[in-house]
Amino acid sequence: MSIQKTLSLIKPDAVAKNVTGSVNARLEQAGLRIVAQKRFQLTKTQAEAFYKVHSDKAFYDSLCEFMSSGPIIAQVLCGEDAVAKNREVMGATNPANAEIGTIRRDFGESIEHNAVHGSDSIENAAIEIAFFFSGLEIME
Ligand code: CMP
Repeated sequence: MSIQKTLSLIKPDAVAKNVTGSVNARLEQAGLRIVAQKRFQLTKTQAEAFYKVHSDKAFYDSLCEFMSSGPIIAQVLCGEDAVAKNREVMGATNPANAEIGTIRRDFGESIEHNAVHGSDSIENAAIEIAFFFSGLEIME
């Protein structure tokens, strides 16, 4: 167990549904602290850079189109085992397979329009946080 930071994105589908406050409440109820947060719209090029690990996948173009289709919220979450805890609160990638009470189950629509993204490891969390935030923007 350790105090970690992780990157969370509230995706365009959840922002369009106006449920960002509800998502944040789930995160906070799980003991995660939002130590940085901003709202903006990615360009398609920026989305492609963020998701470049998936560039060989059939869904890559559609995913990047969707992620640049409207405003998102990027946030840094901090807490005990934050990477795993956030993934637990998010639920499985496909909302249809996510546990009842998880963010994706309650707010996601499909495997692509799945409401939130969360880093999958401590190493990737550091890379993904640095993609969106400077150190000055993170206030613990
Ligand atoms: P995310 O956690 O943002 O990481 C990569 C995203 O790719 C994932 O959530 C899904 O939204 C999307 N994704 C993964 N698998 C598929 C798929 N089979 N079809 C469409 N989108 C997918």
